[in-house]
Amino acid sequence: MTLIRSIPGARAWVVTAGRSCAVLRLDDRDRLLSAHWGRALGVEQAAALVGVPVAVPVAAAVAGPVGSAFGGPGGHGSSGALGSSGGHGSSVGHGSSGGIGGPAEAPGFGAVGHGGAWPFEEDVDGPLELAAGAAFQFGHAQLAVRFADGTRDLELRFVQASIADSDDSGDSAELVLSFADRHYPLAVESRHRVRRGSPVIERRLVLRHTGASGEEPISVLRADSASWTLPPLPDYRLSQVRGRWSAETRLHRSSPPFGETLLTSRRGITGHHANPWVMVDDGTAGPAHGQVFGCALAWSGSWQITVERTSADRTVVAAGFGHDGLAWSLAPGEVLTTPVSAGIWTDGGFDAASQAWHAYVLDHVLPHAAELRPVVYNSWEATGFDVSLEGQLALARQAAALGVELFVMDDGWFGSRTSDRAGLGDWWPNPDRFPDGLAPLAKGVRELGMDFGLWVEPEMVNADSDLYREHPDWVLHQPFRQRSEHRNQLVLNLARPDVAAWVHEQLDRLVAENDIGFLKWDMNRPFTEVGWPQAGADGGDLVWRRYVENLYAVLDNLRAAHPALRIEACSGGGGRLDPGMLARVDQVWTSDNTDALDRLAIQEGFAQVYPARVMSAWVTDSPNPHTGRRIPLEFRFHVAMAGVLGIGGNLAEWSEAESATAREMVAAYKRIRPVVQHGVRYAHGDAAGDLSGVEYVAADRSEAVVFIYRRERRFAQIERPVVLRGVDAAGRYRDVRSGIVHHGAVLLSRGLPMALGGGDPVSTMVHLVREG
Ligand code: GLA
Repeated sequence: MTLIRSIPGARAWVVTAGRSCAVLRLDDRDRLLSAHWGRALGVEQAAALVGVPVAVPVAAAVAGPVGSAFGGPGGHGSSGALGSSGGHGSSVGHGSSGGIGGPAEAPGFGAVGHGGAWPFEEDVDGPLELAAGAAFQFGHAQLAVRFADGTRDLELRFVQASIADSDDSGDSAELVLSFADRHYPLAVESRHRVRRGSPVIERRLVLRHTGASGEEPISVLRADSASWTLPPLPDYRLSQVRGRWSAETRLHRSSPPFGETLLTSRRGITGHHANPWVMVDDGTAGPAHGQVFGCALAWSGSWQITVERTSADRTVVAAGFGHDGLAWSLAPGEVLTTPVSAGIWTDGGFDAASQAWHAYVLDHVLPHAAELRPVVYNSWEATGFDVSLEGQLALARQAAALGVELFVMDDGWFGSRTSDRAGLGDWWPNPDRFPDGLAPLAKGVRELGMDFGLWVEPEMVNADSDLYREHPDWVLHQPFRQRSEHRNQLVLNLARPDVAAWVHEQLDRLVAENDIGFLKWDMNRPFTEVGWPQAGADGGDLVWRRYVENLYAVLDNLRAAHPALRIEACSGGGGRLDPGMLARVDQVWTSDNTDALDRLAIQEGFAQVYPARVMSAWVTDSPNPHTGRRIPLEFRFHVAMAGVLGIGGNLAEWSEAESATAREMVAAYKRIRPVVQHGVRYAHGDAAGDLSGVEYVAADRSEAVVFIYRRERRFAQIERPVVLRGVDAAGRYRDVRSGIVHHGAVLLSRGLPMALGGGDPVSTMVHLVREG
């Protein structure tokens, strides 16, 4: 089946993504409208939706002049825009009617066109697919510019459509709709990309200044990657995550108010307080039923998502990079490509939505998704800044004895870094602590059969460092403004090519010289006093974008130079988690909060969009250093085993019995890890409630792993079986520990019996293997 098709007899297109599709069309004024987003439609069905008379046989319509259905003069538009995107695309140009106040829209959209509508209303209410802020559009403008003479309104003329197969197999396709301003030298492409079998639509805008060199630049005030227009629903409910340091990704659902709801980061990083995705349903969806619409943004700097609920009760979500108030200058010939905003639709409820996101991340975003992530030991909570060769080797021996596969030395190994007050930027081993460099530790760790990894924070500098003394101008700063330190550190201006090159050089050398297999790449403060004085007046705005572009380039180049290197993204925990980062790292440090009870909610929110395969989770000491809470070791393991298992406790203080439990748990994790890291996830209960759980099922349903967590048993609650959702009804499954065989049909209807016993918090893990 062709993934993207134009609708004969209309200036309209059907973009099919798995079981869903988007239908787009141009109105008589060349405005791009959303006619549908939801269940997949065939071309004839979509044609009926956009008002192509049903009586016109589709075959006949193919032969007719495209675009004639909307009464505009035919003819081919100029192709002075961006041209086709390459690949094997066919493109067709259409002139536009050029008129204003043309005929009413297709049936189904109500009265529009300010010829007919009451003049205080918008003439297009809701269904704009490219909201370019033109006349009588009072809502959020996805695209907003200012031309050199002060003109701000855009009048976009449709130039051409091209449908390109992005690869030879025809397994992905891209629709490129090209527009040009009627007067000013700006070309705009709206792109939709889909892949066979995937429910995800990837969208972006590409802007180009088409003027001759020497012409004035254009200021881009807003360039959201996409406007996602929901169909009219009886009601709307917004799902998002909220948080702060040590309390990231907590799921929150609410009814969006009429008006605009702005989710944003103005911090230069993705942020702990929010994450660049939303999901919207009509308020009735549940884990296993209901339509859910979602979109996410692949960008790791400042961003904004605007959820607009219009006065006509439609909901549109626009997602883009950069925060309010920034202006990016586009010079003649320059191209600005926005990051991808990915969208999904499902009618299978929230679990299906999360599963769609997980499949997308695993199949199309992560660099080495098929690999299983190793069990890690990280020294941070055990030693803090107090690292030494002997201390690390002692921990490494204990970790290896538990079955750990990757040993990571955290902060405190370099320069004069013995606390957070000094040394950041001086990326050589502290000569007092490691007089012979890192080689003895790396060798010792490898001899114990583990891979060796290192913590770095390459974008940062302490004022008390050789680097800062030598290059005080390398940090983000503004003239005549103070340089605010946070955790005693300043942010290097990675937007500067020399700084980006220096960061690459430091890491390249470190990895090569020490045979490092893994970097935990940290970033421990947001931007403040953001400026780039050397880059002129525009520098302070450009830096927000160029910083992230250079960060991506450094990561990409480092990976290319060291193909075996694996990277964990960290920003004081989960402050830089997003699909843009996931395209270049292998896992993410979920949160500095390692309290297993708090982690239940943090991990639940994380898992809404991101798979267990990237969710780094450690077992640490009890009482927990952050919360002081005592939690049984098994419970701590069961929570961490639902992601990429790590251990971060002070092993020197673990008793023999605790070490024995840990050994068993690590061995058990290695057996279940393919199901957890690559399986299909189902959520049970409310992670912040008394009883919750998570079920992972192998793609072929040959195995299932169920974790159940009870925080608190009140009033001698009766323990109910947990009704599974992913196993095969026709299968029989053996519980690996008890040997009991369960029928899939029974697990799916009556459920898996629970006997958690007394004492809270308490947990269990059940591993089911299919027998027949
Ligand atoms: C951040 C990280 C921690 C640890 C410290 C080291 O807070 O999130 O895991 O690496 O930095 O300074």
